[in-house]
Amino acid sequence: MSNEYADIGLIGLAVMGQNLVLNMADHGYKVAVFNRTTEKTREFLRHCRDHEPSVDRVLGYEELEEFVAHIKRPRKIVLLVKAGTGTDAALNSLLPFLEPGDIVVDGGNAHWMDTRRREREFTDKGFEFIGSGVSGGETGARFGPSLMPGGSAKAWSSLEPIWRAIAAKVDPVTGQPLEGAEPGKPVEGGFSCTAHIGPDGAGHYVKMVHNGIEYIDMQLISEAYWLMKKLLGLKSEQIGEQFDAWNKGDLGSYLIQITGEILQQQDPESDSYLVDKILDAAGQKGTGLWTASSALELGVPANAIAEAVFARALSSLKEERVFASSCLSGPAIEVQTGIEEWGEAIRTALYCSKICAYAQGFQLMKEAQKVYGWQLDFGTIASIWRGGCIIRASFLNRITQAYQEVPALGNLMLAPYFRQILAEGQTAWRKVIALAVVNGLPVPAFSSALAYYDGYRSADLPANLIQAQRDYFGAHTYERTDQPRGRFFHLEWTAEQRVQRVEG
Ligand code: 6PG
Repeated sequence: MSNEYADIGLIGLAVMGQNLVLNMADHGYKVAVFNRTTEKTREFLRHCRDHEPSVDRVLGYEELEEFVAHIKRPRKIVLLVKAGTGTDAALNSLLPFLEPGDIVVDGGNAHWMDTRRREREFTDKGFEFIGSGVSGGETGARFGPSLMPGGSAKAWSSLEPIWRAIAAKVDPVTGQPLEGAEPGKPVEGGFSCTAHIGPDGAGHYVKMVHNGIEYIDMQLISEAYWLMKKLLGLKSEQIGEQFDAWNKGDLGSYLIQITGEILQQQDPESDSYLVDKILDAAGQKGTGLWTASSALELGVPANAIAEAVFARALSSLKEERVFASSCLSGPAIEVQTGIEEWGEAIRTALYCSKICAYAQGFQLMKEAQKVYGWQLDFGTIASIWRGGCIIRASFLNRITQAYQEVPALGNLMLAPYFRQILAEGQTAWRKVIALAVVNGLPVPAFSSALAYYDGYRSADLPANLIQAQRDYFGAHTYERTDQPRGRFFHLEWTAEQRVQRVEG
């Protein structure tokens, strides 16, 4: 048994785990690694020996006890295993070897309620527990993810130097990612895309909202692609070039960038573009659904985020859709001229919808912090999403600034910059949706975002009638516009003498 001690340990050598280990090793940390299937550990160590300059800083173990024993105290152990039962099983097997003060960090996409429970269980036993969102996929994990840790301030202070070192770096002023990372040569300086989000499940909650935004961002981009294909008659490559151009402006983001690349990718098996050969049935692992159901539970109108989840569900009904396409009628699609003008209108519609989608995500976090007793710093959350994560985008710098200027901002759409974009863009946005509707093309994300915008800016809505209906059939009471809020009335709607009673 070697007498070397690691700075940190990591359990779970799937793709994310392996890359996070190498990232930590690149930054000079000694990392102990363990995987339930020992062959995976051996394979990873072989890979490190042959390809990784930081191989000396990766220490592999085949026994969990031995792995734990070779980590400096208080131990920091990162778990990157399958979320849910996989996490509980790994935690249970780890518990007998831990000592008071040891910190376990769950880096998986855990449900924040599970994280709250686990944090309580660990704290009761004298250990620390951090639930940390990790975003950025394989490349992010290797060269700099966005990290969203939730847990006690004490546990965070132990983990902080490592998390700051390995997180993505952006220019603190422009928010632009600092490039140049390559194995063994990490980026020096810059703003590190991590911050203590709050206690218990706060980090995983924020990561979940990140994913909800990721869903709607992807759906919006897909609708823009579809309109350019169906309404403007453009080929994949041309649409890809359009996305490349958009990536240089306000819409600049990782998802727009990869969309440009994806659309110009040839199919290695045929003479088509690959995207034209990919089945139109979207998968999902559940974090978008969690975001939408949290919004429903908390009564937050995150309709566009929910719509993105439903859009994936509808897409997955492939066989039903194929059948229905032969028997449910719709208009013939009329391909438009004026490609440049319409292209710009679609870009505008995308940008306006995207602002609404992010506004919904932030509104959701604002409500959640009240309910779960957190104090979230929205400027900081936006700032750590500027680099490393899947939704990284140049406009996150605008969001950061908006919350730095007014930390208690009621809604992102009210910030002067966004208000102006929406005011200037709304005509084109409406025209695009109208054209899609007339041509029978579904744009659920574009139109639900617009409905949110129009609903939010409406001083009056038809909910007065809903209240009347509720009172009519169920005596659920209503408030009156000519009386103070909080006074409730009921009318005996069907009685001969319709007398209104004050109910409270
Ligand atoms: C990230 C991603 C990641 C997520 C995938 C797949 O931030 O790196 O959000 O955590 O698991 O994007 O999610 P779906 O399978 O649900 O699309």
